[in-house]
Parts: sequence; structure tokens; C-alpha cells
Amino acid sequence: MENTTHERLLIIDFGSQVTQLIARRLRELNVYCEIHPYQNVTEAFLADFAPKAIIFSGGPDSVTRAGSPRPPQSAYRLGVPILGICYGQQVMMQDLGGEVHGGKISGGGGTAEFGRAFVTPEGELSLLSGWFKAEKEQVWMSHGDHVAKLAPGFAVYGTSPNAPYAITADTARNFYAVQFHPEVHHTPNGAMLYENFVRLAGFTGDWTMGAYREQAIAAIRAQVGDKKVICGLSGGVDSSVAAVLIHEAIGDQLTCVFVDHGLLRQGEAEEVVTMFRDHYNMPLIHADEQELFLGELDGVSDPETKRKIIGRLFIDVFQKHANAIEGAEFLAQGTLYPDVIESVSFSGGPSVTIKSHHNVGGLPEKMGLKLVEPLRELFKDEVRALGTELGLPPSFIGRHPFPGPGLAIRCPGEITREKLEILRKADAVYIDQIRKHGLYDDIWQAFVAILPVRTVGVMGDGRTYDFACALRAVTSVDGMTADYYPFSHDFLGETATRIINEVPGINRVTYDITSKPPGTIEWE
Ligand code: XMP
Repeated sequence: MENTTHERLLIIDFGSQVTQLIARRLRELNVYCEIHPYQNVTEAFLADFAPKAIIFSGGPDSVTRAGSPRPPQSAYRLGVPILGICYGQQVMMQDLGGEVHGGKISGGGGTAEFGRAFVTPEGELSLLSGWFKAEKEQVWMSHGDHVAKLAPGFAVYGTSPNAPYAITADTARNFYAVQFHPEVHHTPNGAMLYENFVRLAGFTGDWTMGAYREQAIAAIRAQVGDKKVICGLSGGVDSSVAAVLIHEAIGDQLTCVFVDHGLLRQGEAEEVVTMFRDHYNMPLIHADEQELFLGELDGVSDPETKRKIIGRLFIDVFQKHANAIEGAEFLAQGTLYPDVIESVSFSGGPSVTIKSHHNVGGLPEKMGLKLVEPLRELFKDEVRALGTELGLPPSFIGRHPFPGPGLAIRCPGEITREKLEILRKADAVYIDQIRKHGLYDDIWQAFVAILPVRTVGVMGDGRTYDFACALRAVTSVDGMTADYYPFSHDFLGETATRIINEVPGINRVTYDITSKPPGTIEWE
């Protein structure tokens, strides 16, 4: 979506692992920013982007190396404030006439430094306003090279034992450069430096969800005109927020398609249909295709084959219903900003990571549809904030992720209706327990998997021979790595008892304590 109304800050990415955190800190300050890899930031790009301020990120390279990453030199002539972080500081010094030394060279001040350090102030600087609560502040350093001589016009405003030029500035030009990373958790008050920086750059904090909502609605109307849009609704946060936003923009020109493959959780289909059709009054096709999916999955136990069958049928079903919507020219997707950020690659040009939606991958081209992606500028927590702004209930907004193939990948081995029914009941009890104990929001994802094994038990005076199940609960930031959630033994015991008492068909409960890697979150 073209952003023309907000004050914009440009982050030039030199390849730091934590560049996204800079963007997070700024968005929290209601400042709109975009991350662009240095390779893409040309003079023409800069002129077109017209940033109100620029931040140079950190990065793994050394400015002492010929051909190392640099911004276009016109950046320094724009007359806007610039903040250089770590490698960004070194770039500024090297570009503007200072000196940077590599590795552990001492003399001229400074050695390589990794981890916690303490900075003490030297003189007054608006960037540091209110920052030094005590005589020194904890910061996080991660640099091999160091500045050995300041560029003309710069002065030192903070030092650490190994970084005499920890905080530097040329106040006449509004250039600021720090050796440490204010964006990370281990610089506890680092957010204040960003706050000071955007304040001195004159940002008014116009990036609010209310403002975004207005702008996004106008942009959707401009893009779509009087044409029709279809949206695959899964009940997950992203597609739900996208649907509600688009509906607010174009009303009945939007039709949602909700594919019920028979692999949903207890009450899920009713919940989604009630919410969107009855509450939001959206045209919604509830494609009840349980027979089709479960029929084709009958007797299949190989995980990859299951996924392929579900993926293929999903596209067929979606396409069938979408075809029936006359005049549809657009497909809505809940693509988020982290999916479209181009990351710096040192093996060649910038690499692009774009999520191909598991549900409708390849469909837009196949059906000749154009994409509407109103969440492309947002981080996940901003999507949640927008959902709240749009009036979606907290139960939808705070939901754990749920995979496209649904319960199929939580039912190792053959899928039967009987097993699915047992699984749904056990899962509902487990989630109820987690909510009752106030743990739901601490956990990234929690679910039950029904195992393809029957075990012997004894209930009352009788012998049982029923399924075993595994409880899974993990903490994670992005689903790429995960650790098991450390429930108390009391919680696990109480939950096992409830499941065995309340769910006929299960007589044994286990807890999965595998991290990812080496495991995955789902069982298949
Ligand atoms: P794994 O099991 O790979 O899962 O550790 C990581 C995260 O991705 C979710 N997941 C999927 N989501 N379609 C989806 O939309 C899929 O095919 C799929 N497979 C796994 C999983 O629930 C977890 O959040």
C-alpha cells in the first residue's frame, strides 16, 4: 500500500540480526518506518522516499574492507537527522572523515567488545535527555571494529571502558552515532534514545491504529473501486482482521470463503460463521466439505501425503466457490510486514522472503486475481491492535496459531472420525484448563495430539483399552524455534485426570517435553 500521508523514517539495513527490533521500537513510538537493505537505497530511492530521519543499522561487515556496505552519500546532504548504530556509527565516521580500526587493535582507543558494558556520560546531549538515571547506563555491545578517530564536527558524549567513542554526535548537523545497540533488551533503557531521536527529528507520532485504519480503508477503496473481492477466512487473526477491515471499506463487495475441512477444533466452524456472518453481517460462504476431505484422507497415514491431499483439495474447493462469485477481481490476503521485509544477503543481491499463503498459494495467478494485502505494513502485534480498533473480540485476537491442515497433523497415523471426535474433546478440556489457570497468553501454542496407540488401563473395576494422547504447549517468538512450557506437576496431574474422566476413548495422558529443534511444534 502506498504510504503518502505519514511522516516516514528510513532504516537502512546493513545486515544486523536485530534490525527489526529498531523498527519495533519506533512503531511503539507511533513513528512510521520502513527497513530497506542498503543495496536498494540509491540516491533516487532516497529522494523518492523523502525520510524525515534516517537510521543506519548495525551489520556484520567491516568498513575497513574495500567495497563494504555504504549508504548513498546524498543521505548526508538531505539535511535530516541521522542515527548510526554500531556498524552504522563506523560507516558514518569513515564516510565523513574519521577513522575506524579493525579487530582488537588498541591505541586510538577501543577494542572488540561483546555483551554487557556500562556507558558514562560526557556533557549534555538532547539524544541522551533523561537517559542517565545513575552515573552509568547498561548497554549491549557487539563489535569487532571500533572508531579510532572522530569525523570532523563530531564530539564524544559517552564512553565505556572499551569504547571511548560509545556515544558521539555532530549536533550542528543532527548526526548521532553510538557504538552499542539501544534496540535490544540488554540495553534496558535503550528505547528512550529512540524516543529522544524521533522527538529531536520532529516526529509528531502520527502512526496510530486509528489513523492507519482510515488510511487503509481509503487505500482499499481506491484499489478496488467497484470490483469484487474474495477472502479466504480461516478464523485466524490475520485473515479475520483483513476481512473486517476490507468489509468496513467496501461492504458487500467482499465475500469471504470459509472452508470447513472437517479438521477444525470443537465449535470452531460455528464460532467463525456466527462471528462473521451474523455479527459482522458479511457475505460468507461456509463451504462444508468435510465429506470430501475426510473421504480422500481415509486410510492415509503418511504425513506428507496427508498435507498434499489437504492442500490440493483446499485449493480446488476455494477455487470452486470463488468462481461462483461473479466479477471477483481481487483476492485478499493477510500478509504481514515481516513476510515482505527484504533482508540483507552477503552472498549476492538482497534476498526476498515472501510468505506464500499455505491455503491459496499460486491461486491468484491461476485465477487471474489481483491481490489486496491491507496488513502488509504491520507487525503481528499491530495487527492485533488494529483488530481491537475494529472491535474484534479479545478471544479472536489473542488466539494461538492453528495450522492450515488442522487436526490432521495432530492425529498421527490414520485419521478416523472417531479419533477426531476424541481429539476435539480432549483438546477442549486441555485449553479450558490452560485458560482457567490463566496461562493461555503465556503460551505460544497448546494442543492435544491423539496417538496411534491404545494402552491398557483400569477404571472402576474394569479394564480399559483406549487411546493415549500427548499434550503439547510451547513458548516461542515466531514458531521457528520453541521450547516446551514448564507446567507445574499439579497442573499436569489435574489436566490428565480431567481428560481421562471427561473424554471417553482416552485412558492415558503424556506431556511432550521436546524443544524445536530437534522436534517440531506439530506432531506431523
Ligand atoms: P512446526 O510443526 O513446523 O510448526 O514446528 C511451526 C508453526 O507453523 C504451524 N504450521 C502450519 N501452519 N500451515 C499453517 O498454516 C501448515 O501447513 C502448517 N504446519 C505447521 C504450526 O502450527 C506452528 O505454529
